[in-house]
Order: sequence, then structure tokens, then C-alpha cells
Amino acid sequence: MSRPSQNGFTAVVLAAGQGVRMRSERSKVLHEVCGLPMLAHVVAAVRDAGAEQLVVVGRPADAESPDFLAAAGPDVQIAVQGEQLGTAHALAAARELAGDAERVLASLGDMPLITSDTVRCLHEEGAASKAAMTMLTVTGAKREGFGRVVRDAAGAVERIVEEANADDGVLAIDEVNSGWCTFDARWLWDALAKVRPAANGELYLTDLAALAAGERSLHAVAARDPEEIFGVNDRVQLAHAERAMRDRIRRKWMLEGVTLVNPDTVYIDGQAQLAVDVTIQPNTHVLGKSRVGPRCEIGPNSVITDTVIGEDSSVVSSHTESASIGRRVSVGPFSRLRPGTVLADDVYIGNFAEVKNSRIGAGTRIGHHSYIGDASVGKRVNIGAGTVTCNFDGTAKHRTVIGDEALIGSATMLVAPIEVGERARTGAGTVAISDIPADTTAVGVPARLVGERSTASESER
Ligand code: UD1
Ligand code: CA
Repeated sequence: MSRPSQNGFTAVVLAAGQGVRMRSERSKVLHEVCGLPMLAHVVAAVRDAGAEQLVVVGRPADAESPDFLAAAGPDVQIAVQGEQLGTAHALAAARELAGDAERVLASLGDMPLITSDTVRCLHEEGAASKAAMTMLTVTGAKREGFGRVVRDAAGAVERIVEEANADDGVLAIDEVNSGWCTFDARWLWDALAKVRPAANGELYLTDLAALAAGERSLHAVAARDPEEIFGVNDRVQLAHAERAMRDRIRRKWMLEGVTLVNPDTVYIDGQAQLAVDVTIQPNTHVLGKSRVGPRCEIGPNSVITDTVIGEDSSVVSSHTESASIGRRVSVGPFSRLRPGTVLADDVYIGNFAEVKNSRIGAGTRIGHHSYIGDASVGKRVNIGAGTVTCNFDGTAKHRTVIGDEALIGSATMLVAPIEVGERARTGAGTVAISDIPADTTAVGVPARLVGERSTASESER
């Protein structure tokens, strides 16, 4: 990756902390907020703010962990902090990768609500000020767990006092340290070597503030929105971050033209996309990389995950996962589309139908109580109530192919592998164990052919 130019900067995301207060076997920064790990939110914010080089500081195991690397994302370098000896020690671990970068921005991997606007503002103020260190502070935020900002009589920042070391007077200070700061890199690397261990043995990044202040080279920027400056140290705070971000996402989509009938009961992940005039009914989750087209109605009581939906479709009281749904499709209530389901335009899926790894052609109807798995179903097919594609023989899965305009009678068992030709028809309760040619009718157990499909039967449809 290229070295930062004049306007760019190197962002170092500190993400190696033990996260003891999470009481988790997973790295703290991998805990998710609105469907994405906290680390991914922070990396996105610094990337969008213009960082040219991204370094994430992790534990030795993190550098080998697929989950951690996926959360950090592409084009991100991982610096390893061998032992967790504090935030200053963590930043120093990035020194080699940062190389001769001129400006370094330190960011915290446990602050998922920060926005790229705030990060950009911090970088720009820091670069313009020429101060050795520029820190982002905030007033009016939740203070618990934050370092307090101590100013002198003239109002200049003197130092930061960590909560554990603060007396009552300092604890009462309303201005806190966000933990995010930006540096003149040459000053930073020398200064980090001067930090001495705190009482608990940790090297605090915040001690750099007093060093910079002593050299009259400390600048402080106030964050505009206190909500953004929220560090997640335990699961109560994780839930708070989740609520705040959900709220932000819901507001965004409502302002973009999406109706949320009862916003408090709607959950939309950060990566989901909704078109204009979509209506989301109560108790509905739109998760992962779902994309919902114009005028669709989703819910009530639906969970759609990684599902792409065309225009004017509806999903009522149903679950869909890794599915693709066309235009004017109706799903539900009480149906389930599992991964690999592709529904063409004008498909009707009624109640208690399960579809898995199957393509369903345009205009086909699967009204009631069916299982369609590993199948390819043509256009304008009618699947009668209780139809099952018996795709599993105990060892392997087999495919079912059904041609256009076939009419599958109620409670038909299609024992795969099997092919049902175009316009073929099965009687109620048929157990079909071999192919049914086009334009024929099969009935019985096991099925036997009883001749051409008659035109009379056409009118019974
Ligand atoms: C830190 C700040 C505090 C600030 C607060 C904001 C210090 C000493 N204190 O406290 O002033 O108000 O953030 O939330 O900096 N980390 C490492 N390696 C380590 C220790 C931490 O990579 O050895 C990472 C963690 O993964 C985390 C970040 O640094 O993402 C902050 O660490 P944390 O222990 O949460 O610091 P706070 O106590 O919140
Ligand atoms: Ca923290």
C-alpha cells in the first residue's frame, strides 16, 4: 500500500485489548453491532474519512484469525501487540508498518458509533493546527469509564486523568477524552518512548497529552455529537450501541422514503438497502446484505437475511435467507425460503411452504404445505397442497426438474432424481418414482401413466 500523501494519513486502530469486561471468549472488537463487528464499523469510519494507510493492532492470535481479518477488511495491515500493556504500547506496535507516514491518527476499535465526518474533522483540525498532538474531547457524553480532561485556569488542556486515578473533583469534570487523537508522527514515536507505566503497569496513550501540553503543542477539538463518542467495554454498553445505531439506520431510511409502521420494532442491518416506498410492517428484521426493491411490503413478523427482492413484492410472516425474489412475488404468511432459492417474477408462495436451493419459474404457484428442495420448476406450474420433492435418499441429495405448466396434484411425492415434463399432470397422492413424460398424466402408488393429459382436466385447474 502506498505511503500517505499530504492530505492522507495513517490510521491505527487499537483493537488488541483483552476486553475483560465483556466476559467473552471472542475478541471484544468482533462483537457485532447491527450485523457487523465493531472493528468493521471503526475501519469503515477511518477509511471514509480519508485514511490512506490502515493499520489494525491485534493480539498474536488475531493475526491468524479469519474472523478478525474479515472484520478488519481488505487493504488493512495487522500489527501485532505481543502483550497487552496498554494503549500507548499498542500504538507503538504499529510504528514499523506506519514507516515514514507524516500524520498518524489513533482510533479505538471499541467505538462503533463514531462517524467518518467526525474523524475527518479531527484529522483536518490536527493537520491545520501544527500541534504535536490533537485530541478529540466531548462534553455532555456518558462519562463512566472515560478519562477526564483537566484544563488550566486559562482553559488550555493540561492532562488527562484516567477514571481509576481520579479524585472526586476530577471525576466531576464534564469533559472527557474520546481516546481518538492525531499526531505529528515524528513527535509521536519519540514521545511514546517517554511514557512511564501507570500504577497498574499499563502504558497509557493519554499520558502523551501532558507531554504535548508541556511543550505547548497540544490542541483539543470538541466532538459535535456526544452520542458518537461511546466506548463499548461490556455487554450493557454493547446493547446501548446497538440501539443507538439501529435508531440511526431507521431514521436514515425513513428520510430516504421508506415507511416504518412502528420503527421501534424494526431491525435493519447497516449493509441492507431499501428502495423508495418500501413499507416495513412491525416485528420485522432486514438483515445482512438484503436489498429490497421499490414498493415492496415486508412484514409483519418477517426475517429476511441476505435476500434480494425486486419491485412490488411482499413477504408476510416469513423467513428468507440468501434468496432472490423477483417482481410482484407474494410470499407467506408462514413460509420459509432457504439459501439458493430463486423466485422469478409473479411467483406465489402461500403458507407453510419451504423452498431450498431451487429455481421457481415465472407465474408458478406453491400455495400450501409443500417442500421444494434441489429443484428446478418451470413457468406457470401449479404445485398442489402437500407436494414434497423427496430429494434425500439417506446418503445423497438428488434434483427434481418440473417443466412449464405442469400440474402437480395434492400430496404428490416426487422421488428424486426425477423429471416431470411440460404440461404433465399427477393425480392426488401420487408417489412418482420415475420420470413423467410431457403431456402425460401419472397416478397412484407407485405412479403409473394413464395416458395423455386431457383438455377436460385443463378446466378443472
Ligand atoms: C481509553 C482511554 C480513556 C478514554 C477511553 C474512551 C487510555 C489509557 N484511556 O480507556 O482516556 O476516555 O478509552 O473509551 O487510553 N487496546 C489495545 N492494547 C492494549 C490496551 C487496549 O489494543 O494493551 C485497545 C482496546 O482493544 C480498545 C482500545 O485500545 O479498543 C481502548 O482500550 P480500553 O481498555 O477499552 O481503554 P478504556 O479503559 O476505554
Ligand atoms: Ca474502551
